[in-house]
Amino acid sequence: MTLVLGLESSCDDSAVALVSHDRQILAQAVVGQAEAHRPFGGVVPEIAARAHVDVLPGLIRQVLHEADVTIGEVDAIAATAGPGLIGGVMVALLAGKGLSLAAGKPLIAVNHLEGHALSPRLVDPNLDFPYLLLLTSGGHCQLLEVRGVGDYRRLATTIDDAAGEAFDKAAKLLGLPYPGGPAIEELAVKGDPGSVPLPRPLVGSAEPHFSFAGLKSAVQRAVASGAHRSEDIAASFQQAVVDCMVDRTARALESSDAPALVVAGGVAANQALRGALAKLAADNGRRFSVPPGWLCTDNAAMIAWAGAERLGRGLTDSLDAPARARWPLDPAGESVRGAGVKA
Ligand code: KG4
Ligand code: ZN
Repeated sequence: MTLVLGLESSCDDSAVALVSHDRQILAQAVVGQAEAHRPFGGVVPEIAARAHVDVLPGLIRQVLHEADVTIGEVDAIAATAGPGLIGGVMVALLAGKGLSLAAGKPLIAVNHLEGHALSPRLVDPNLDFPYLLLLTSGGHCQLLEVRGVGDYRRLATTIDDAAGEAFDKAAKLLGLPYPGGPAIEELAVKGDPGSVPLPRPLVGSAEPHFSFAGLKSAVQRAVASGAHRSEDIAASFQQAVVDCMVDRTARALESSDAPALVVAGGVAANQALRGALAKLAADNGRRFSVPPGWLCTDNAAMIAWAGAERLGRGLTDSLDAPARARWPLDPAGESVRGAGVKA
């Protein structure tokens, strides 16, 4: 059995996991920082980096202890090397390099987005390449054709905010705590999704790109008007995001004959989105795959798994692998006019 230790610290979750090449998760731990960032309504990079330094070494010891495995029995160390908040990215990457050097094990510098992109394969052994992936998280919203490990073709991206960012901003406008996605989903259950008229940016447009900035402004106006209940705004906002995602993904399906539709990343934890995309896949005769919620939001099992996939193909990295703030999965993906800095 090949064992890979995964380390993650690119945003506001410190995480460690030990995963085998045959899809067993021997142990894992995630420590979030939501409390530390809550007063600021978003992630503060300096606070995040310091918290990762405090937490990560203990998590490594804890995971190895729980799995009853020594570092000498691990076959490789996989650490997120970007993209993300650079101070945080460096914490897991340097820890990974230190372990790699000390234990004489190969290092795998994992792209966090590849972690999300391959995460469905950790729990769905029958999910083969290629598949059409909606990757939707706090910093990204992309449609990609996943052709193999390290082989991605980007079909679309957001021209402004990421979907998770839109959830977080809408939540802030509604006075809900960070992170906004789960808070909006919870409130939306009590609201009427058809009650507040909100736009569906880019719906119907030829290219399958996304846009969420206008939706956020409309939420701002709806809140300011005082005419609506918060739960109705939350439900209507969530419905608008889901409608946009379904329309844009449907458009991408027209230009991809990949047999499966997959959704991953933090926003994929949203039940309304999962249900709508499952229906879209069925209507289009595609297989549908989505990881469980805990594997959608940031975690290290997906990093260890991406490491196992790369190790299995002989893809390891040297100790001078750089930490990267930006690291697109498809380097050929052309920049989109008006695209935000988080592309
Ligand atoms: O993948 P992730 O954990 O971190 C990044 O790599 O960005 O995604 C975090 C994002 C946040 O914006 C959060 O509000 C959103 O995912 N999110 C959700 C839900 N759970 C997390 N959005 C909608 N519904 C949810 N249930
Ligand atoms: Zn993520």
